[in-house]
Amino acid sequence: MVASRTPHWIQNLGLSSGKIAPVIPLARGITVHPLDTILKPQSIAVVGASRHEGSIGREILHQLIEFDFHGKLFPVNSKADFIHSIKAFPSVASIPDPVDLAIIVVPRGEVLSAIDDCGKKGVTGLVVITAGFSETGEEGKEFESQLAERVRQYGMRMIGPNCMGVINTDPAVRMDATFAPTLPLAGRIAFMSQSGALGVAILNIARQLGIGFSYFVSLGNKTNVSGNDLLQYWEDDPQTDLILMYLESFGNAKKFMQICRRISKRKPLLVVKGGRTEAGVRAATSHTGALAARQGLDVATGALLEQCGVVRVNTVEELFDLAMAFSKNPLPRGNRLGILTNAGGPAIMATDAATALGLSMATFSERTCHELRRLLPPEASIQNPVDMTPQSDRSKYDACAQILLEDDGIDMLLVVFVPPMMINAMDIIRGLEQLRHKYLKPVVGVIMATEEFFVELNRDHPNHMALYIFPESAVNALAALNHYREWREKPLGECKRFEVRKGAADEIIQEAQQQGRSELSGEESLRLIGCYGIPVAESIPAANPEELKRVARDLRFPVVLKAVAPDLIHKMDIGGVITDLRSPEELVAAAEKMTESVIRHRGGTAAAGNLGFLMQEYVRGGREVIVGMSHDPKFGPLVMFGLGGIYVETVKDVVFRVPPLTDLEAHDMIRHIRGYGLLRGVRGDAPVDFDALAEILQRFSQLAEDMPEIAEIEINPLLVFPHAADFRAVDARVRLVGDRKERA
Ligand SMILES: Nc1ncnc2c1ncn2[C@@H]1O[C@H](COP(=O)(O)OP(=O)(O)OP(=O)(O)O)[C@@H](O)[C@H]1O
Ligand SMILES: [Mg+2]
Repeated sequence: MVASRTPHWIQNLGLSSGKIAPVIPLARGITVHPLDTILKPQSIAVVGASRHEGSIGREILHQLIEFDFHGKLFPVNSKADFIHSIKAFPSVASIPDPVDLAIIVVPRGEVLSAIDDCGKKGVTGLVVITAGFSETGEEGKEFESQLAERVRQYGMRMIGPNCMGVINTDPAVRMDATFAPTLPLAGRIAFMSQSGALGVAILNIARQLGIGFSYFVSLGNKTNVSGNDLLQYWEDDPQTDLILMYLESFGNAKKFMQICRRISKRKPLLVVKGGRTEAGVRAATSHTGALAARQGLDVATGALLEQCGVVRVNTVEELFDLAMAFSKNPLPRGNRLGILTNAGGPAIMATDAATALGLSMATFSERTCHELRRLLPPEASIQNPVDMTPQSDRSKYDACAQILLEDDGIDMLLVVFVPPMMINAMDIIRGLEQLRHKYLKPVVGVIMATEEFFVELNRDHPNHMALYIFPESAVNALAALNHYREWREKPLGECKRFEVRKGAADEIIQEAQQQGRSELSGEESLRLIGCYGIPVAESIPAANPEELKRVARDLRFPVVLKAVAPDLIHKMDIGGVITDLRSPEELVAAAEKMTESVIRHRGGTAAAGNLGFLMQEYVRGGREVIVGMSHDPKFGPLVMFGLGGIYVETVKDVVFRVPPLTDLEAHDMIRHIRGYGLLRGVRGDAPVDFDALAEILQRFSQLAEDMPEIAEIEINPLLVFPHAADFRAVDARVRLVGDRKERA
């Protein structure tokens, strides 16, 4: 029934509405995107438009008019003939002209019939402002799934529900379909917000700070159009240079990462992530799971964002600080900072902050020093930071800034101005504005002035340079620019697929599953990772002391003996690991001692009944590392690497990344642990073979990706050496999906 109602813009293309391709070539060079009807509509119906001042139905209509929407507007209201001096229609279907976008503001109970009304008309874009859906509980959730289904049936795209609207400042569109009290400034930043209220606040503050937007989208419940959809839309959008996000959840995190990785190479993405809660309490048996859970969801978020080049900020204030720097400056070519000031204190603060954040203080060329000396009074400092002394006026600022910007040894410039009585701050800024556009270098200012000054500034020069009240904020923003540049210049690396014995690995898992087990034995776990080419210590199981004696005759010594029992996790703690056994006699004696110890620790002789053993090749020396994987409820598998053995518990020196890992990411992971120096070698030790270690991490990442049946894997320790041939995993644990609620 729905298929016959073809949207007008699709009719025009001669396509049926059954299948909408993501991007439809219209003519050479022109394309229509399914989200265009929402973000670039030529006609809008406001369904639920109202005469009551202060109601959302009235405010949205008013805002659309006030911002001078470039297309046709149709208020829809069953009771009123006209609203806000415009003719109103009783239904969308009764509007004689085509309608691209319907903004739905009716009460929740009327939303579905409003959608049907839009469906009759062939409307393809919806923004549902109405709230009371999944955010309110079970009943709302049910309403939301009905809504989602209805929208899907009609082949529409919908933003919301429970959102505060959309904005496109493009002069050819000029749509402000929000109920924010201020009109937006036009600019080149696209902004999506998962929180409506915060979105409004941000629009207000942005206006005050002179930050302009290309688009603003309040995502609401993300029932149909997701954050990922928007990112892809903005990826190629010529009006957008910078993307800002306020997010509380990631939706499809894996896809989010793929998209971000790609976009970050072209446009910076700034994210402030709300909801830094602990991941759900999980009874994690492994170090990996426990560490991931302890450090909370934040671990995953941090790993994910860092890996895909997203600039993560911690507060909304910082989001503005960085948005200002990123939107008003080119990227620096390096990390060398020059500082120009008329007062010592703030410049010293800036210098400290710069050094702490990985910027370096530029060394000036001889020519720069010479010219500064010629220009400035003897009491001025011509070293970096250049302190011109308080009586410096605009001409001094202009001349010195120019000298510094000309110096090839300076990649970015910070200008500090503490206003003395006799010198006008606005004058200084005018000078810098003229100058900075001549150089392809970031220039930011610190003006330690009153609030009135900034009000005046934003009124007279809404597009002013990036300005801050405090030096630390300015330096933080410059450091973020530099950090992003470094990421952008760094190649992503290659995601290799290794030849592995997946079939054999599957068999190990299936066998355990058939026996109703959710844990693999140590021996099985080692065999499993061995299938993926990770070197493991040769291991032979023995079910009881008799079998152990039989096997002992044929072993190559020295060996290690380990206790094996179904629920035994930390063997070492109860005398369940004895190393460096050099003969069958020593081995048998060790088995007796171990049995005694385990009985003592576990109480009674019953424990001895089901005690088995594992005999393992003894690996001498080496440095112990841990390689793990655990599932985050939101992000799926996370790979962990760190110092292993006893260090895991004491120093918790580990890093997390999201698989699949590229070769460069694997190396990056290794370099990022604090104990990297230990692996590189202290006091003349040779470094471990980092290429071999990185390959193991990649093989492990492939395993984590290939096997959704695995909830957790942990190799602890993997013994690593200067020669790849010596590497051995000596202990591993694999837990399968299905024994915990969180994986349901
Ligand atoms: N085959 C081996 N060769 C040399 N040393 C070994 C071998 N197996 C174990 N070890 C040493 O014994 C320690 C404990 O071994 P293992 O990891 O098997 O016990 P565990 O009780 O599981 O320890 P954890 O709970 O810390 O994982 C290892 O960290 C390592 O130092
Ligand atoms: Mg262990």
